[in-house]
Parts: sequence; C-alpha cells; structure tokens
Amino acid sequence: MEGLHIFGLSHAYGDNQVLDNVGLMIPSGELVCMLGPSGCGKSTLLRLAAGLEKVQKGAITIDNVTVSTPEMHVHPEQRRIGLMFQDYALFPHLNILDNVTFGLLDRTAEQSRARAMDMLEQVSMASKAGNFPHMLSGGQQQRVALARALAPEPKLLLLDEPFSGLDTNMRQSIREETLTVLKHSGVATLMVTHDPEEAMFMADRIKIIGADGTILQAGRPHEIYYHPNHEFVAKLFGMMNRFEGTVAGGRVETPLGSVATDLEDGLAVQVLIRPEGIILETDGTGQDKIGGALVEVTSSHLLGHDNIIRVRLKSGGHDELYVRVHHTFEVELKKDISATVDEEYAFVFS
Ligand SMILES: Nc1ncnc2c1ncn2[C@@H]1O[C@H](COP(=O)(O)OP(=O)(O)OP(=O)(O)O)[C@@H](O)[C@H]1O
Ligand SMILES: [Mg+2]
Repeated sequence: MEGLHIFGLSHAYGDNQVLDNVGLMIPSGELVCMLGPSGCGKSTLLRLAAGLEKVQKGAITIDNVTVSTPEMHVHPEQRRIGLMFQDYALFPHLNILDNVTFGLLDRTAEQSRARAMDMLEQVSMASKAGNFPHMLSGGQQQRVALARALAPEPKLLLLDEPFSGLDTNMRQSIREETLTVLKHSGVATLMVTHDPEEAMFMADRIKIIGADGTILQAGRPHEIYYHPNHEFVAKLFGMMNRFEGTVAGGRVETPLGSVATDLEDGLAVQVLIRPEGIILETDGTGQDKIGGALVEVTSSHLLGHDNIIRVRLKSGGHDELYVRVHHTFEVELKKDISATVDEEYAFVFS
C-alpha cells in the first residue's frame, strides 16, 4: 500500500513506556488525525515516522519501502517527508521564495523557482514571495510553511499541532485552505491536534491514544462521535451529562427515559448523554412526557447558533443538566419544560 504504514510500534524513554504496540495505516491522499492527552506520545510517534528518533520495537514503511526497524534506519532527508511542527519556524534571513526553494535540492534553479511559485500560489502567498518572514502575519507564515513542506512533493506529511498558534477565525480559514491543498497534492498526512473539533473537521479518520500510549479507538469522525467505545472518547467533545443505573432487559433507565445497551443484565453502568442529546419541549401544559422528566431552566446562554441551557430536574436528586438546543428555542424561565433523552447521543459504559 502506498502511504504510511506503522506496525506494532512501542517506544520507551528509560523506564517511561510512551507508546505501546501502536499500529497505523494511512493510504496516499488520506488525512489521519491523532488525538490524545498531553504526554501520551503523539509527538514521539511523529518523530519516529520522520526518522528523528530511532525505532526500538516495530517497523515503519513509506510507500512500501521500509524506513525504520530496530535494525535499520533511513535518515530523515531520505524519507520523502514534509514536516510542519507547531513552531513552523521559517528561516528569518531568507525571503519567502527562498524559504520554499530551500529543500528543492535535486532541481535546477529555474525548476525550483517554478515549483516554489506554484506552491505559493496554491496557498495564496505568491504576492509575498519577496517579503521576509517577519513582515507576514502568523497565518501567512503558516501558509508559507505548508508550501515549504509540500514543495519537494513528499510522500508523507507530518503535522504537529500546526494551527495552535492561530486565533479562532484564522484557524478555521487556514484549516480549510490546508485541506484543499492537501487533497490536491494526494499526500498521506498524519496530523496531531489537541482539538477534537479540528480533528472532526480535518480528518478522514481519527486515532485516539489514551494516557497509557495505546490506541483507544480508531474510526471515521462520525463513528468516533456517535459510537464512542470508551468513556474517554465520549468525553473528548466536551461536557457530558451523567446518570448511573443498572442494565435490565438490554436497557438502562434514566430520569429522562431509557437507553439501549449490549451490556449484560444486572451490570451497574453509567449513561453519558451529550448536551444535544437532551430534548427540551415546552408543551404549554407542563405535562410530563412518557419516559421523560419535568425540568426547570436555571440559566440560558446564547452561543450564536446554539443555546446552552442549564436545567434542574423537578424531582431533584441530580446535578444540573447541561443542554444544547438550537438558538430558536424560546426559553421561558420558571415555566415547566419536559426533557427526554435522544438515544443517538447517549452512551452506556460499565
Ligand atoms: N527526548 C526525550 N527524552 C525523554 N523523555 C521524553 C523525550 N521526549 C518525550 N519524552 C517523554 O515522553 C512522553 C511523551 O512525549 P510526547 O512529546 O510524545 O507527548 P505528546 O503526546 O506529544 O504531548 P503534548 O500533547 O503535550 O505535545 C512524555 O512523558 C515526555 O516527557
Ligand atoms: Mg506533542
């Protein structure tokens, strides 16, 4: 298979076992995002793929060529990889064009220049070719860094938190541009991010690494969001509402209705419900819904597209619930509202 292939990689720094039997496959043209807590070994994995670190156990191939095993090690310059790390440092003493031509060693000066200008055009920075890095904004520098990484036509692009230095608006537009350029280039990309929404937006597939350095779940963004197979994965995307219960007849009762599960009867479980998985309804009469509960609103905050509403069960006995509803939902403090669970956003873990 063309692209990146990692087999059974384990890595330790002294007694600190950082990666434990990690496998990964990225075909050309695909973007895989790696998410995980700080210190779980994400950058270590990128450094191993880049050849900046020697492999202790396992193997790495790029376009079917073995580049790392404990016995052999191809140098980073010979791996046909593009690197972009958080501090995408451009060379301050070189202008933008020279920054991008820097890695184009095997071409004539004319070919290098043409290739660099083509890449600068793709990231809308051709007009700045003669400028120096300090004359560019953070987002512009980031785009030049992307052009520099892709100019030598790498087979594999390794991105370590590439957008973390940018503000929210800039991040969003750079993400979109980067994605367009990457899809156009057909390179295999492995990107590390702390931001689950960024991973959802960018990735064809997401790998989630746990604190112990093992892969907790891997799948398409939709699967990760709607079918998390681990409590940690479910909680990645922010605040969850939590109930405790016992499995009976393949279901767990919560005050907001019951939720299906494959777990065995009699097992004590927790039910985690996403904020958008609680349906609020004002039916005028304040009547309880079948399987739902009466709640009262304690606070409401408009976020823009959504409202974040806190509600309290009228029956008491539980913390406030955290609900996300469309901004058109009219909140009426004090009025009786019913809440039910939408099973699609509810997950049961033992
Ligand atoms: N060169 C090194 N020597 C010794 N320990 C190291 C070295 N590099 C990393 N570590 C340790 O390995 C573990 C994983 O580090 P790594 O940089 O891969 O984490 P990360 O997942 O990228 O974290 P973050 O999200 O904070 O960037 C950490 O405990 C770190 O202290
Ligand atoms: Mg890191």
